[in-house]
Amino acid sequence: MDHDAIILGAGAAGLFCAAVAGQRGRRVLVLEKADAVGKKILISGGGRCNFTNLGAGPENYLSANRHFAKSALARYTPRDFLDLVERHGIAWHEKTLGQLFCDGSAKQIVTMLLAECEKGGVEIRTGQEIGRIARDEAGFSVEANDETHRAPALVIATGGPSIPKMGATGFAYDLARQFGLKVVEPRPALVPLTLGGEDVLFRELSGVSAPVEATAGQGKTAARFREAALLTHKGLSGPAILQASSYWRHGEVLRIDFLPDLAPGWLSERKAKSPQASMAQVLREHLPERLAVTLAERLGISGPLQGMSDKALVQAEERLRGWQFHPNGTEGFAKAEVTAGGISTAELSSQTMEAKKSPGLFAIGEAVDVTGWLGGYNFQWAWASGQACGEAL
Ligand code: FDA
Repeated sequence: MDHDAIILGAGAAGLFCAAVAGQRGRRVLVLEKADAVGKKILISGGGRCNFTNLGAGPENYLSANRHFAKSALARYTPRDFLDLVERHGIAWHEKTLGQLFCDGSAKQIVTMLLAECEKGGVEIRTGQEIGRIARDEAGFSVEANDETHRAPALVIATGGPSIPKMGATGFAYDLARQFGLKVVEPRPALVPLTLGGEDVLFRELSGVSAPVEATAGQGKTAARFREAALLTHKGLSGPAILQASSYWRHGEVLRIDFLPDLAPGWLSERKAKSPQASMAQVLREHLPERLAVTLAERLGISGPLQGMSDKALVQAEERLRGWQFHPNGTEGFAKAEVTAGGISTAELSSQTMEAKKSPGLFAIGEAVDVTGWLGGYNFQWAWASGQACGEAL
């Protein structure tokens, strides 16, 4: 055997895992299809890479098994990654909500990962066209660019199909299925939602943004995000919507509280204070002009508040607190920051990321059915799952 482990994919998870295993003395080969490593890291966080989130915990991830990520996340924490960043002298700042970014550029994170790989003697080959992958009693053989590499362990770190124009594909799922592993239906996540039907009027407000609370799902499984929403020429975007989109399913309603900071009864109080004010005027005090006017129109309230009964005001408040949008879809993998779903966690050990049915085969990062919120959580999963696997190789 030429290597102890072959890792497919030199993205965040693959590079980190390679460094960990390499520094433990394993002979690691990383095969990358693209002509350069870590391309998604380079474009992440607007070029500054939101490399972790100080608050990252299992509750910030979606998965068919919400307990799966616990072990890896507990064993490699945001603080652990931050220590590494600091050891490499990379200046950083917290932007908001625990989100940590490089002061300089995302390139520093790629350089750091490559330095860590070098420390572990990892061999990285880019521009690799992966051909046949097979296994026998001795381990795996991987054909790449007319060469055959062999190792007792194979790691799938090829990510998900989000942003296909960067070369992202469902390769990980095909490979997992080849070895008998189940895949949870992949779908675009952290993705803008599109509006049609009656909601189409809101598309005219393209460019308007407001702090809202967006809710997807019902009852106990409802997920609420209080951040900015942005109206676009296709529908809805902005952090609150991207977050909610991961929980939204086709055919479901998305609820938006346009005035999450106002206490119930505020509209009646407002009427008592300024009976002559119109709904649009009152909404304008809290929301951008164009949005205020459109909401007042959609509520069908044009005259002064004094002409409205308290019951009608309560109903208007309720609508503003839970405005129902009926998205007709998402902007798809082309615009999705991540993929939800993926290689089923039921197939993997949560301690090592090794396939239970196929010892020696591992899967890490976005390829696995663990999807983080917006804000550095997805990289933290890449590091944590990469570490868990790297320790086991
Ligand atoms: P990743 O996609 O990084 O790496 C997979 C690698 O495998 C790639 O290099 C790919 O070329 C390679 N590959 C694919 N098929 C192959 C094949 N057949 N053979 C060999 N190699 C193959 N997250 C976050 O936490 N903070 C942030 O700031 C951002 N920002 C952000 C911006 C944008 C625009 C996007 C699209 C995504 C983000 N993300 C993010 C998400 C984050 O980029 C993502 O979760 C991680 O990159 C996932 O890491 P992986 O290593 O699993 O996949």
